[in-house]
Amino acid sequence: MQQVNLGIIGGGTVGSGVFDALQRNGALMASRLGVGLQVTRVAVRDLKKNRAVKIPRALLTTDWREVVCDPEVNLVAELIGGTTIAREVVLTSLKLGKPVVTANKALLSAHGEELFAAAKKFGTNLYYEASVAGGIPIIKSLREGFVGNRITALYGIVNGTCNYILTRMKLEGADFAAVLADAQKLGYAETPPDLDIDGHDAAHKIGILASLAHGFWVNPKKIHVEGIRYISALDIKFAGELGYTIKLLGMVKKLESGCRVQVSVYPTLIPNAHVLASVNGVFNAVFVRGDIVGDALFYGRGAGKDATASAVLSDLADAALDLKFGTKHRLPPFVPHECSGAVAPIAEVVSQYFVRLNVADKPGVLAKIATIFGEANIGISSVIQPEGHAGESVPLIFMLHYATNGAALKALANIAKLPAVKGKPVMIRVESFE
Ligand SMILES: NC(=O)c1ccc[n+]([C@@H]2O[C@H](COP(=O)([O-])OP(=O)(O)OC[C@H]3O[C@@H](n4cnc5c(N)ncnc54)[C@H](OP(=O)(O)O)[C@@H]3O)[C@@H](O)[C@H]2O)c1
Repeated sequence: MQQVNLGIIGGGTVGSGVFDALQRNGALMASRLGVGLQVTRVAVRDLKKNRAVKIPRALLTTDWREVVCDPEVNLVAELIGGTTIAREVVLTSLKLGKPVVTANKALLSAHGEELFAAAKKFGTNLYYEASVAGGIPIIKSLREGFVGNRITALYGIVNGTCNYILTRMKLEGADFAAVLADAQKLGYAETPPDLDIDGHDAAHKIGILASLAHGFWVNPKKIHVEGIRYISALDIKFAGELGYTIKLLGMVKKLESGCRVQVSVYPTLIPNAHVLASVNGVFNAVFVRGDIVGDALFYGRGAGKDATASAVLSDLADAALDLKFGTKHRLPPFVPHECSGAVAPIAEVVSQYFVRLNVADKPGVLAKIATIFGEANIGISSVIQPEGHAGESVPLIFMLHYATNGAALKALANIAKLPAVKGKPVMIRVESFE
């Protein structure tokens, strides 16, 4: 049987998970593929570190170049994270004609185009299933399973930390800060947590999915991103009373006019009857709508040692088969096919809205606010002024009909100027999945 020699750069959560998974299922994979995968070298930062998965000392080095440039190594897995050394690792390997498997969404988001061009130039390949939604095979599904579809919409709950926090806020009626602090203690959120809770990690992933679905590489700067910091226990409670659950939702939606696509990440009210509303805890889900297949749902663990290792193994298998059959370009990492596509500015995107205001408890306030919405041509579908809120100011909740984000934000800015309105209005978009 042929053998592929694998060099792994990084022996942390994912790297050690891949090493462990290959020990457990390497023989099974070899019998399925007709080609064996042998870990030949592993680069880490600290040789003395105690690792949950024991990697033989003889395989370890602190010099990633030693691994990449080892003539015995013919496949490289970049599993260190970050965008500087990781970029060098990938480029150096590709230049040597060695295929690379990466789990690094930040790297692809920042340098994807450059790295894909390098893979093409040097006649090799770059695989990245583990970069989005951990164990869910969404990259392979978009590229292969749905190759005959136009993807009209894609919705993703792709950040486990945010989903864990929002789920606990809903179940416990707890505030964001308290749940975040506990999540950090329990290891479900990083310190600092910004990359996750400000939506950037989800945006990296949604940008990759949008690029694959629409055939033009999405510039991460064009993605409208909002995190979950401003979501309060009150928002979750009132959304619940209206029949909705709040999730951090990545969205890729073809707009009706021209080649524009909405690519965004923001907290969203999801109807409780929709399947995505019941994706809880650290789980991820991706909901895809294709013009031929209709709706399809993927659910699973979006991170963690084993789930991510599973995705890396899938890429290693593809790479090993490509090496075995010499089919380097059977499936290039990214094929531009809708070069005229563009990301729509958020101001042009049409949504429905949940708005929560804090207003002085005086007669006439509601009428003034309704007038501003009316002048902006934004219809109100319902208003709630909950009982039992004593004090000078009380919450006032509006559900608004479809309007562009530009119009909704302008109206809210005018409403915020009313002396009766206290503090910053909260606006959360509502998705109906129509
Ligand atoms: N963790 C997840 O659940 C998950 C899920 C999906 C994707 N990913 C992606 O997978 C990648 C790795 O994440 P991770 O969670 O495994 O990170 P991690 O636990 O921090 O591990 C990073 C590993 O890289 C090594 N390393 C760092 N700099 C190095 C250098 N210059 N030379 C050699 N080795 C170096 C570290 O060595 P030491 O061990 O000696 O410090 C460590 O073993 C990231 O791109 C991440 O976004 C992670």
